[in-house]
Amino acid sequence: MPATTMEQLVSLCKRRGFIFQNADIYGGLQGVYDFGPLGVELKNNLKAAWWRSMIYERDDVEGLDASILTHQRVLHYSGHEATFTDPLTDCKKCKNRFRADHIKDGKCPTCGSTELTEPRMFNLMFKTTVGPIENADNFAYLRPETAQAIFTQFRNVVDSTARKAPFGIAQIGKTFRNEITPRNFIFRVREFEQMELEFFVKPGTDMDWLEKWKDIRINWWIEQGLNRDKINVHRIEESELAHYSKATYDLEYEFPHGLEELEGVANRTDYDLGNHTRYQSELNLSSNVHENKESSAKLALFDDETKKWYVPFVVEPSAGVERGVLAVLSEAYTEEPLPNGEIRTVLKLKKHLAPVKVAVIPLKRNHTGIVQMAQTIKKDLLKTGIGRVMLEDSGNIGKAYRRHDEIGTPLCITVDFESIEKEPATVTIRNRDTMQQERILVSELSTYLKNFFMS
Ligand code: GAP
Repeated sequence: MPATTMEQLVSLCKRRGFIFQNADIYGGLQGVYDFGPLGVELKNNLKAAWWRSMIYERDDVEGLDASILTHQRVLHYSGHEATFTDPLTDCKKCKNRFRADHIKDGKCPTCGSTELTEPRMFNLMFKTTVGPIENADNFAYLRPETAQAIFTQFRNVVDSTARKAPFGIAQIGKTFRNEITPRNFIFRVREFEQMELEFFVKPGTDMDWLEKWKDIRINWWIEQGLNRDKINVHRIEESELAHYSKATYDLEYEFPHGLEELEGVANRTDYDLGNHTRYQSELNLSSNVHENKESSAKLALFDDETKKWYVPFVVEPSAGVERGVLAVLSEAYTEEPLPNGEIRTVLKLKKHLAPVKVAVIPLKRNHTGIVQMAQTIKKDLLKTGIGRVMLEDSGNIGKAYRRHDEIGTPLCITVDFESIEKEPATVTIRNRDTMQQERILVSELSTYLKNFFMS
């Protein structure tokens, strides 16, 4: 049975060290979470899979790692200062605050009162002071999306790589939004990471690329273990589109709390590059572009056929890392009955996402010969490059298997008396999903594991 409630996941994540509430010893900072020893591995593996699919497996995408602190003018010309807002309403009775568009039947979600203030727009961007003197002018924003630095670095990337459209710039990094009502564990938080690609194409080819990227991204999520039947493709209504978008697909996933957005794939037109460009009058801009006399850049490409400059259109697949982690966890979480009537909890994560790839378990934690062999095997297996190999010397084999089932370790290797007493040396390997055990030669372990993890 897969995870049916968020509580099951929250409980597993805390118990096994995936995700903790931030500053919980002080009561917790709302909407902020920390990734624990296993969470950081899972998150890194998901990000590595995205990076690999975008940069290494393609020949038309470059990477970028830009700063979080963002110049005021960037977010002025991007339109975020004016429009990156949510409607806020207060309950006059219990004094709680809510997003007005999340309220049903005009009633306060906490106390049920109908006495709510008129909604007012609230800007979601965090500001911080830059330098030692605090005044109204010397602030920067913490970026509300990673995308803007890709646009402002467009000229530098093009000039240093000689790219021509179609090509993309990809980035993974922290993003901050002062959400009015963070909720549903790590689904809606105030600090999170995004995996964003800005893909620059010739105007006129943008809608075809939007379709292509929607399909590429659905397939990628399936490769991360998501069930296609739990992914819904939702075309956003024109009246609901973000200020920069001509067309957007939301890839929605059936999270334990309901069907909600996992990733957006948007046609951002020439809106961003156009707005950050100085020489706008020389360019045939198609969208709602504001005059910009502060930028020094011409964020355009030269078309060798028409011999004219043009501003490329942008297709943007943008996914949240935390929502990705939540989706793969809820998909992988399984409770299954064993023949003895017990229920085992197992995380059936894809191998490449598993935080620990192999646990090496000495059958007796105080037996020098067994422990030494386990240590040597662990060191040798690390050299295969398969990822984290862990020495699990809790001393109780049953508990060790249960723990590694729960954290999704695909293989457990046990070193026992036979391993040290008989020549040639052998160990047992237990498979997480089938629970089958087989005995194999220690000398064949590296090849066995390489084949297992590369397949
Ligand atoms: N650059 C486009 C952009 O930022 P978005 O739809 O606002 O578009 C993209 O965000 C993705 O970022 C979402 O699909 C979601 O996965 C993630 N995301 C957005 N707000 C979030 C939040 N408060 N907490 C966690 N993830 C969030």
